[in-house]
Order: sequence, then structure tokens, then C-alpha cells
Amino acid sequence: MNINEIRQQFPVLDQQVYGKPLVYLDNAATTQKPLCVIERERDYYLHENCNIHRGVHYLSQKATEAYEHARQTVADFIHAKEAKEIIFTRGTTESLNLLATSFEHLFFSETAYSKLSTDSQLSTLNSKLSAPKVLVTAMEHHSNLVPWQQMVQRHQGQLLVVPMDDKGLLDLEQYEKLLQEGPLVVSIAHISNVLGTINPVKQMVAVAHKYGIPVVIDGAQSIAHHPIDVQDLDCDFFVFSGHKMYAPMGIGGLYGKAEWLEKLPPYQFGGEMVDTVSFEKTTFNVLPYKFEAGTPNVGAALGLETAIQFIQSLDRNEVETRETQLLQTAIQQLSEIEGIRFIGQAEQRSGLVSFIIEGVHPYDLGTIIDKMGVAVRTGHHCAEPVMTRFGIPGTVRASFALYNTLEEVEIFVKAVKKAAMMLR
Ligand SMILES: Cc1ncc(COP(=O)(O)O)c(C=O)c1O
Repeated sequence: MNINEIRQQFPVLDQQVYGKPLVYLDNAATTQKPLCVIERERDYYLHENCNIHRGVHYLSQKATEAYEHARQTVADFIHAKEAKEIIFTRGTTESLNLLATSFEHLFFSETAYSKLSTDSQLSTLNSKLSAPKVLVTAMEHHSNLVPWQQMVQRHQGQLLVVPMDDKGLLDLEQYEKLLQEGPLVVSIAHISNVLGTINPVKQMVAVAHKYGIPVVIDGAQSIAHHPIDVQDLDCDFFVFSGHKMYAPMGIGGLYGKAEWLEKLPPYQFGGEMVDTVSFEKTTFNVLPYKFEAGTPNVGAALGLETAIQFIQSLDRNEVETRETQLLQTAIQQLSEIEGIRFIGQAEQRSGLVSFIIEGVHPYDLGTIIDKMGVAVRTGHHCAEPVMTRFGIPGTVRASFALYNTLEEVEIFVKAVKKAAMMLR
């Protein structure tokens, strides 16, 4: 794997900020986009732009074919059984809002509820609906917390939260106990965006299924770094964002097992998602269109397909090994700093390091190293409960992607050391 050739695919990396070469270590927030992705989107607007699914003319058919091809590519990438199990959304946040809203309509609107099949299913559900619960973990991003929280609170319910230890590992015994409290849904991060912990999601899915509870996996931080096989994980839903995997912003996905997607009512209403419409009654389109109301972001979906092809053109094992090496080097060199505290120390971890330094506010540190050309993220990373759990205001987070180098890690650590000296 020639890192220089890879970096040439990302012209944005080749620039100076404040007179220093840019070191971009904010990849968990968003990755940079390779030329092939940018060109694919540009090409679409130059030669193919058209609204899809509703035209008999050449361009419309071409755009429709390309869009559906992109759906198939996503399905293959995460090993979904069928392309209709992939819903294009704006990203992880929209996918999770879709699920929270649709589950709410499924369980709490009488018409949809009465469609649930057997009597025994109904009686189990009845007991769950008086004070509904959704099970999340202590390390969720706000996107995988607030939609569920709002949903259960509208029905006088509550979130159940799997606790974690000081290293950032989930308490799996407690997880199973909480499952026995009868949550309607389990929704868990595959990889924490603050701690880097890789959660044992396959095992967690299996345990939840023992209790007949569907599981959503938030794959925002995992899909770019690790091969995903939704059939092997046996998760009911898997959600992700394109912009965190070298694709454009404004596109992402929701995988759902067909049997669940068939059951769930639509999230938004309008064109495309309908079958027939009269003033009295509307019937809905088949999967996946039932969940894709209105004109989608076709250009970005094609960019996502190209991003997937770009990831697949590289040796994924080699990429993973390199990213692990960057992470370990960063941790090892940062450990030399007096008063450093790592937030998240799981053995199974990926892609990022979060820390605070005694006597130094993360925001000040981030601002100073920015002037040295180093881009990291500081703050609560949209996971305030994690900050509360560790009793800190925020962290400094460096996160890696396939184009980062050991040299950049060294520049970053030197910058942190210098800033810490200045601030203490
Ligand atoms: C674990 C996790 N979930 C959800 C999100 C939300 O993703 P988006 O803003 O792309 O919808 C993020 C973004 O940082 C994340 O890291």
C-alpha cells in the first residue's frame, strides 16, 4: 500500500494552515473525500443529473439505474441479503430518527399495532407498552440517545442504560438483567466515538434475541474501519453515515431485515413512497421506496458507491493494521506526558484516542495545537453523558484514517507536549 499515492487522492490534505502543514486528525467527525468520489458526484451533475424513478426518458432511466446500482453496492458491502433492505437516508442521525419514529407508530398507533401478527405477541407487547423502555448504553452519541429518549418519554416511559466501567467497557451482566425488564428495542454503538471501545455487538445481539428483542447497531464509527457483515452479526438494523467513510455529506443508510422493514410504518410521507393516493386513502409503495419520501440525494448516493469501491480497492487488513499502529504509537508517545489521563482504555478499540491533561482545558489545548497545523476535536463529542460518567468537561480526541502517517502522529504528539507546557 503506497501511502503517498493514497494521499494524492486527497488534495485537501496537501495544504498549509497558519503556515504549517495540515495534520488532519478529526476523522471520527468526518473523513476527507478522495478525488474519485468528488469526480463521481461532479460527473453525475455534468452528465446524468435527473430526478429518478418517475421518468420514461433517457436521463431519468440512467440516473435511476445508477442510484439502484449504488443501493446494491451498499447491500453487498455490508452483506445484506437483498438490496431492498437498504434505505438511503441523510446519515446515521436520520436513520435513527426514522427508526424511533417508525417504532413509535408501530407500537402506539392502533391501526399499525393491530397488524402485529399473533395473539401471544400482542399480550407480551401489552405489558411492555404501559411504560415503554428502550435499552441504550452509557457510551451513546446523542443521535442514538435523544430520539429514543423523546419517543419513550412521550409515553411515560424511560431509557434503560447499560453502565460501563472506568476503562470504557460495558457491563454485560447488567445488560442481560436490563433485557429482562422488557425493552421494546435495544440500540447500541458498535464503536464509541469518544472511547474507541469496540463493543461485542454480535454477542449482544444474540443475548437480546433470546428475549425476542430487536437490536439496532449504530455503525457510524465502525463501517469505515472494519468489514461489516450484517447477516453474521444478525442485527435487525444497522445505521451509518457516508461522510465518515470517505463519501459525500448528506448521504447514509439504514439496513433493516426485510421482515422488520415490512412491519414498520413509513417515516415521512409524500412522493415516491406511495402506491395509490386518493383524498380518502393512501397505500404505500414496496420496500425500499416506502421509506424514501421525496427526491433523494442521488449524486451523493453515487459518491457513496464510489467511496465503497475506493475502500474495497485497498487491502482492508493492511489498512486496519496501519490504523492500529498509528493509534498505538499515539498512545505510547502521549503516555510520556505528565498528568495525562486517557478516557477509554479498552483492549478492543479502534481508530481514536481521547484524553485530558491535568490543569489544561481541552478547548485551550485544541486551540493552541490548531495554530501548529494540527486538527483535532475537543469537547463532549455529542456524548455528554460520557463526560458526566468520567467527571470531566470534555476531552481532546485524535482520530485516524487510512491516509494518516506515523510522521503526522509525531507532529501531533509534539504539538500536544508543547501546548501542555505553555498552558501549565
Ligand atoms: C457513534 C456515532 N453515532 C452517530 C453519529 C451521528 O452521525 P451523523 O452526524 O453523521 O448523523 C456520530 C457522529 O459523530 C457518531 O460518532
